[in-house]
This record gives sequence, C-alpha cells and structure tokens, in this order.
Amino acid sequence: MTDFKTLFQPGNIGKLSLKNRLIMPAMGTQLPDAQGKVTQRFLDYYRARAAGGVGLIIPQFAAVSSDATMPFNVPIYDDSWVSEWKKVVDAVHAFGARIGIQLMHIGMIYLYAGFVPEGLTVKVPSMMPWLRDDMPYHEVTEEDIERYIQDFGEAARRAKEAGADLVELHACHGCLVSTFMSPITNRRIDQYGGSIENRARFARRVVERMRQKVGPEFPISVRINADDDIEGGVSLDEVIQQAVILEDAGADAISVSGGLEYWSTLSIPCYPYPEGPMVPLAEKVKKAVKVPVIVAGKINAELAVRVLEEGKADFIAMGRPLLADPDLPNKVRQGRPDQVRRCIYCNNCLKDDPQAGPGACSVNPFLNREARYPLPAAERPKRVMVVGGGLAGMQTAMFLAERGHQVSLYERSERLGGQWNVASATPGKERYATFVDYLKGRLDERGVTVTLGTEVNREKVLEVKPDVVVVATGASPVVLNVPGATGKNVVQGHDVLEGKVPVKGRAVVVGGRFIGMEVAIWLAEQGKEVSLVTRAGLGEDGIRLEKLTFKTLAGKLVDLRVPLYLHSKVLEITDNAVVVSLGDGVFSIPADTVILAVGMRPENRLAQELKGAAPEVYTVGDCVRPRDAAEVAYQASSLAAKI
Ligand SMILES: Cc1cc2nc3c(=O)[nH]c(=O)nc-3n(C[C@H](O)[C@H](O)[C@H](O)COP(=O)(O)OP(=O)(O)OC[C@H]3O[C@@H](n4cnc5c(N)ncnc54)[C@H](O)[C@@H]3O)c2cc1C
Ligand SMILES: Cc1cc2nc3c(=O)[nH]c(=O)nc-3n(C[C@H](O)[C@H](O)[C@H](O)COP(=O)(O)O)c2cc1C
Ligand code: SF4
Repeated sequence: MTDFKTLFQPGNIGKLSLKNRLIMPAMGTQLPDAQGKVTQRFLDYYRARAAGGVGLIIPQFAAVSSDATMPFNVPIYDDSWVSEWKKVVDAVHAFGARIGIQLMHIGMIYLYAGFVPEGLTVKVPSMMPWLRDDMPYHEVTEEDIERYIQDFGEAARRAKEAGADLVELHACHGCLVSTFMSPITNRRIDQYGGSIENRARFARRVVERMRQKVGPEFPISVRINADDDIEGGVSLDEVIQQAVILEDAGADAISVSGGLEYWSTLSIPCYPYPEGPMVPLAEKVKKAVKVPVIVAGKINAELAVRVLEEGKADFIAMGRPLLADPDLPNKVRQGRPDQVRRCIYCNNCLKDDPQAGPGACSVNPFLNREARYPLPAAERPKRVMVVGGGLAGMQTAMFLAERGHQVSLYERSERLGGQWNVASATPGKERYATFVDYLKGRLDERGVTVTLGTEVNREKVLEVKPDVVVVATGASPVVLNVPGATGKNVVQGHDVLEGKVPVKGRAVVVGGRFIGMEVAIWLAEQGKEVSLVTRAGLGEDGIRLEKLTFKTLAGKLVDLRVPLYLHSKVLEITDNAVVVSLGDGVFSIPADTVILAVGMRPENRLAQELKGAAPEVYTVGDCVRPRDAAEVAYQASSLAAKI
C-alpha cells in the first residue's frame, strides 16, 4: 500500500506555510449569484473542501477589470468586492485551510465559454483569422495594457485586504495574459510581441505591479501554460524562459497547467488522457526555477506521492478529485484511501444537468449542494427492497441505509455494477470501475444485504413483503429497426467493449454518440478498418454531451482518419454492407461486422408489474429514462432523501 506521508509534509510558498502539499486549484462554479455576490452555497462548497483537509484553496477566478467579467463569478475590480471576498476567506480559514485568490482578465476564454456578456468584447493581443466570427473583438492597445497592469495591481491589493494568504496570476488557458505569452495568439510587432521577452513583458509587468502593491512578503503564484497543446503554440523551451522571467519579477511559485481552451482540451484532461499529462512539463520547469512548482491535471493521491518523491513538483493541485470527494485529504492521511470516492475524469461536472442543475458529479451528488449532506436520519426506519444492482440501485441502497432504513438489494446477474461495468471495460475508462468498488465497500459497511443472481418479479416482492420497493432495473441497448439488423454480422457496441464478440474484417459502427465514437476509436487504434455512420452530426443525437470530452473523442477520430458518414440514415444491413441514404443519394458501405451503438431503452416492465405489490413503489435511474451517471447519482440521493 502507498505510504502517503509525503503528501502531508508541510511546505512553503514564499513566506506562506502550508500544512500539506495539496492545493485545490481554481475551478469555476455557478454558485455565486448572477451579479457575483457570494451565496451560502458558495461558502458551503469551500467550507466542505477546507474541512476535508486540503492545505490551500484557490477559489474560482476573480475578474480584475470590469470589462472582463462573467456572470456567477465574484469579481475584484473595485473596493466594493473586498467584503464579498472576505466572506470566502473567513469561511476557508475557519476550517484550517489557507486561501489564495486567482486574478484574471478573461481574454479569449470567452470563446471557450461560448458567450460574451452584453456590452463587452473579447480582448485579444492580435486579431487572428481563426477567431470565431460571431463574437465582438477588441485588439488590446498599449493604453489598455497600462490600465490592465494597474487593475491587476489594485486587485492584488484588494485580495490582501480581504485577508487572502496568496494571490495567483492566471496566465494560462487562453486568458488575456496567457494569449500575450503564446506565439499562436500574439502576432504583435510592438514591445509586447515577437521575442520571448516581449511576449512575457505584459505578464512580467503585471507580476511586478502586484508585488509592488502587496509588498515583498506577500506570496504570489503565477499559473502558466507549459503547453498550449496546439500546433504553433508556445514551446517548452520558451515556457522555461518565461517561468524564469516571472520568477525574477517576483513570483513565489510557478503553477504548471496547459491547453489553450477553445482549441485544446488539455486544461481539464478527461478520461482518454493518460494520468498526470502535465507532470513531465512541471518537471522541466522545476529544473529551471528556484521557487516551488505546482502541477495539476489527473493526479490522484498515489501519483501525487510519486511526483513529490521523484522531485518533479513541490505541490499537487487536485481539482476534480476534490469535487468528487472533499474529504480526500483527510481520508488518505488517516489511512483510509479505499474510502475515497475517486474522480473518474468523466467531466459530467462541466455540464449543466437539466435535472441536477449546474455542476453535477457522477460520483458525488452533493457537489455544489453541500448543505444537503448528510441526509437526515429516517423518522421511521422501513424495510426497503431495491431491485437492480447498477449505479442507481447501489447508490439508492447506500443512502437509504445511511439514513437508517433496513435495505436489501437484488441483482439478477452475478455482479454488481450494471451498465457501468460495460463503461469500465472501455479502453481509457478503466478508472470507472473504482466507483463500483467504492459503492460495494459502503454497502458492506452500512449492512445492506446484497443478493446476486436473483431476478425479482411480482411474486418475489409479495414473498418478501417490503414496506418500499425501489425499482432500478436500468436500460438495455436499442436494436435498429431496419431490414438485416438482427443478422449474424450485427453486434452491439456493449458486447464488443466487453470482449464478448469478435470484430471481423471491415467494421462499420452505427451511432455517433460517446459509445459509437469510443468503439470506433478503439477498433481504429487496434489497426482495424472501421468507419462510423450516424443519422445526425457527430454527438448531436440524444442527451447532451460534455464538450471537452466530445472534442477529445472527435479529435481522436480525426487523427485516426476514421471515415465519418454524418447525416446518413441506415436503410438496410446486408451480409456484407450497410446501405445508407446521404443527401439525395443511396450508398453502400462495405462491412463484415456492423456494430450498433444507437442508444438505450428503459427496462421499465417490472415497475408496471409491481403496481399495488407494496405500499410504496419508486423508480430510479435509467429505467425511468436513460441518462448520464451524474443524473443517476442525483436522482438516487434525492429519492433516498424522501423515503
Ligand atoms: C458503454 C457505456 C458507457 C457509458 N459511459 C458513460 C459515461 O462515460 N458517463 C456517464 O455519465 N454515463 C455513462 N454511461 C451511462 C451510465 O452507465 C448509466 O446511466 C448508468 O450506469 C445507469 O445505471 P442504472 O443503475 O440506472 O442502470 P443499469 O446499469 O442498467 O442497472 C440496472 C441493473 O438492474 C438489473 N436488473 C434488471 N432487471 C432486474 C430484475 N428484475 N431483478 C434484478 N435485477 C434486475 C440489471 O441486471 C442491471 O444490473 C455509459 C453506459 C454504457 C452502456
Ligand atoms: C469546472 C472547472 C472550472 C475550472 N476553472 C478554472 C479557472 O477558473 N482557472 C483555472 O486556472 N483553472 C480552472 N480549471 C482547471 C483546474 O484548475 C485544473 O487545472 C484542472 O481541472 C485539472 O486538474 P484536475 O485533473 O485535478 O481536475 C477549471 C476546472 C474545472 C473542472
Ligand atoms: S463529474 Fe466526473 S470529472 Fe467531475 S468531479 Fe465528478 S467524477 Fe470527477
């Protein structure tokens, strides 16, 4: 078992002493109100993380200028915002963590967000031909630069006045400062463009002004892109030189991130990325600077120990892992790593969920709703029978047992997990299996009786006589309703992923959502000849997909040169082809194996059958309507709260 002691060694950033090496990096939420005022939910969110044992929290960015704001963000562009930030600072301090405020001018990140607030423009160092043409732009002048430098300085002063322990300059991901540093976004010919020194001049002057305003002792970190992750972006060699310039300007720490958002998906690497993609970059930066280096990006507690022990970084920023489990630091420190609800990097927390609202997590239904946890004890403990051992059934059973109900869980197969086991079999998604392990552990701890290999029907319920039945029977894959769809050469994507059926010869995947894309990528990576057909655009059909994950998968399909037949309706499947209509034409795509990934249909027969079989009958999860895991978790916790 990993020894986690290294994570809990105190460390310093300038004069700031941190109790451990774990930092929660800046992550946007929708929790302040639309005008940017701090809400109770916003405070609860940070309190939970501070109480969970992290050393330093950097809340979501604060806009330094009034022309760079976003709704649901607490800005810091004038003195009236000091009292708002003080509330956040006090909440974090009350639970023993330190807090740094991230200062940002948003710049091109508006492109990633997909909108610009009314009356504002996207500030850019240079107009580039590839900027999307549905947004208003403003090329930053030298006068603007002087004003922004002043804004950053004043914002740093305010952060200190609010009681923060550190200020961080946001200079990555495509915010204004970072776009000056990169040759892909900066084509200026004045003193702020061209050479490395010129491109770093704006950032350097900002740090110098911040230092001047906060004094020599107050810690400043700078978060940079060590890789823009696009052709023509900043090179590692340049990044290293820039880091040294920023250190000389007064930075007490360099925080390494990457990815020019809008183009790249590296800034918030999702499941297809390897673990710790930015660690090798941090290692190089660390060799060049004397100040501590912070690194983020898909780093779990075990990898964090290795990174620190191998001297590749000094602090570990854990973002989504602390969304998934705010108590991660305490659990690990207390020798309970098996109880950590691990982030699976699915990025569902980046979607606005129609049911669960903004920022719903697949494994933590209390993300952004911290006050809902723990659920209240049951007024009258009931005997509850939960049918279906997928995510919906397991989570409902866990929360019900936590409330004091007597819960038994029935699963017809020999294994808990349901569809999630298929998801976990997908290359790149192996980590998904940790959630089933976590749930099994909690069911065991909470005394839930689990019966495998038992298909529940009405008779079984009448025999058990529970007070409550929760039906969580899930969903099963849809079969296409076209001639030939039940032929021997036609298989389900699920069976391919689980290795139950071989894929012979030329393959055609039907379905352009996550599962279809994942199957096609996996086959192409094995060198198989595969094409993909979808009746809509890629990812357009059905429930909304998370945009970074979608972009990552679409990018892989393009890189692997998988032929994509978009807006193509399958008319027939023959022994050796898929016949599709495309525009006004009909085409035949040669196929030895046809793989269906055309959606799921709810398994709701039992729910109908059970009417009147028990005093209370509820349904939860995909058997109501196929959905994503974040919605399943939210619905399971909401149902468990009301029984
Ligand atoms: C390949 C794949 C990839 C996916 N990837 C993602 C992803 O990346 N992100 C995401 O958010 N979501 C993903 N999903 C969706 C997610 O897995 C589902 O939304 C979720 O697992 C549904 O859980 P559930 O418990 O409602 O249903 P299920 O997982 O279908 O569980 C239902 C269970 O009930 C059992 N059962 C049925 N009838 C009975 C009965 N009569 N008696 C006893 N037991 C019964 C079944 O055997 C099954 O185990 C993916 C799904 C698949 C298939
Ligand atoms: C919802 C969300 C919002 C984010 N917002 C910011 C931000 O405002 N500033 C920033 O520097 N990084 C932001 N990030 C990036 C994170 O700070 C972090 O670098 C990234 O999530 C990778 O770390 P992780 O794998 O530990 O989550 C955001 C990430 C997420 C998930
Ligand atoms: S939704 Fe997914 S990526 Fe986001 S915190 Fe939860 S598990 Fe991690």
